Amino acid sequence: MHLPLASLALAMAGRAAAQDHTLGFIGCSMAENVATGYVAAGGQRMWGPYGTGGAVVQSWTNSASASWRSFDAQAAKYGLPTAVWVQICIFAQAGVSYDEVNQLIANAREHAAPDAEIYISGQPLYEGGATCFLAGQGGAELTDEMAARAGEDEALNVTYVGKFWLGNVEVADGCHANAAGLTALGAQALEIFG
Ligand SMILES: *[C@@H]1O[C@H](CO)[C@@H](O)[C@H](O)[C@H]1NC(C)=O
Repeated sequence: MHLPLASLALAMAGRAAAQDHTLGFIGCSMAENVATGYVAAGGQRMWGPYGTGGAVVQSWTNSASASWRSFDAQAAKYGLPTAVWVQICIFAQAGVSYDEVNQLIANAREHAAPDAEIYISGQPLYEGGATCFLAGQGGAELTDEMAARAGEDEALNVTYVGKFWLGNVEVADGCHANAAGLTALGAQALEIFG
């Protein structure tokens, strides 16, 4: 059947609306950077930023933590998410273990709709191998390796979405995105999540 363009646009808008805010996320300020850029780019499926600054892995390992309570508040507002993006984000000293990654995934399932799809990634990597001082030398790379490992682990049933990138001129403070970085991360998230 041949749909006139206007009806096609309407149908697509309808589909987008039905998906609005159905993708929850966990992570730290770096996830907030992604969400901020995503919303600015017109992304609708994923939640906007909701105050996850400083919420590294250990903020999410306890399913009853303050971070999960703020996640639940978002879910109460938008409905239980049918998909969750788990961003692994660390402070250098605490790091992350694979057990902790497993716990984050289990907790995400517990706080989302039944059979929710789980996406996973590390925190953004830096062009030219630059380091985020908060995550420490090799820290961002470690989070990406953990995410990729989880994606290959069939028992976990999660989808590794690949690497997020920040260019040299897109970093504000040695870790976080500046305005150009927010735009770059938002575009990457839109590409990945729609
Ligand atoms: C794997 O996850 C999908 C959602 O992404 C879900 O529909 C499916 O039931 C899960 N499979 C198993 C074996 O748990």
